[in-house]
Amino acid sequence: MNNKKKTQNKENKNLAVQEASIIKNEIIKLENETLPVLAAGLAHEVKNPLAAIHLHLQLLENQIHLVDNKELRENLLNRIQIIKKEIISLNRLLQEFLKVIRSEKRSYKIQELNEMIPSIISLLKPQAHKVGAEIYFYPGKLPINLEIDPIFVKQILINLIINSIQAFYTEPQNQKKRKIEISTGIENDIPYIRIADNGPGIPEDIQHKIFEPFFTTKQEGSGLGLALVKKMVEEMNGSIEFISKEKEGTIFTIYFYPKSIKDITNEAQRHKNEIE
Ligand SMILES: Nc1ncnc2c1ncn2[C@@H]1O[C@H](COP(=O)(O)OP(=O)(O)OP(=O)(O)O)[C@@H](O)[C@H]1O
Ligand SMILES: [Mg+2]
Repeated sequence: MNNKKKTQNKENKNLAVQEASIIKNEIIKLENETLPVLAAGLAHEVKNPLAAIHLHLQLLENQIHLVDNKELRENLLNRIQIIKKEIISLNRLLQEFLKVIRSEKRSYKIQELNEMIPSIISLLKPQAHKVGAEIYFYPGKLPINLEIDPIFVKQILINLIINSIQAFYTEPQNQKKRKIEISTGIENDIPYIRIADNGPGIPEDIQHKIFEPFFTTKQEGSGLGLALVKKMVEEMNGSIEFISKEKEGTIFTIYFYPKSIKDITNEAQRHKNEIE
């Protein structure tokens, strides 16, 4: 190949790489900026008419006593209740959806995980007591440089603990003491949080579906809880696993793969250089 051809080839290659990089940036921008804004906008557009429908239903409910025929009145009231319930669940779905969309950009902090768990437990204790369950915390040793998003960690724990509490509702109270145990520690150099309950467990035939958005076995559930949890865990460079056995309970473990101290120091230095 002569030199001129070689240079031409190299230039073409460079151009192709540049174009690919532009396209990649456009896709990232579309995924990170455009789509969430569009989706959030759409969700808002749906929310407003939903609120109006709810209001009009309430007005209708207030006037229903004007219907003389008792049977018809009760029938209409019943239908109003059904529509209202559906509106409420749709609204909840929208709220959850907006939460997922808004969770795009987070701020990560080096935070002592063990310190933030007791307040989350206190928040959920009353709900646990309602089903006769107790929440215990066993703090273990954790690295001091664990980089997490405290808001994510709080949302993750709340979702998992509430799932455990709700699971107890589905089985009759027996002799067994209902327990939700939260523990932290390091396993094979990887820090973790574990949430274990001795509830009814997750039936084997649905275990592969539980992280799917909208998969739920609950009448009032949106099925977004665990999908959201997984997304948040992965955004923090973590992973989530579970083991569940029917009639014995369920254990969720979240592993955090922290950046090494070296990485954090390098990042801080790079950030400093950028500013300078
Ligand atoms: N600790 C648990 N014990 C038993 N089943 C569980 C447990 N955690 C989750 N599940 C099962 O996984 C399903 C999906 O959970 P997920 O949190 O995603 O949705 P949900 O709790 O049904 O609804 P939402 O969280 O949106 O209110 C649940 O409906 C339930 O069947
Ligand atoms: Mg849930």
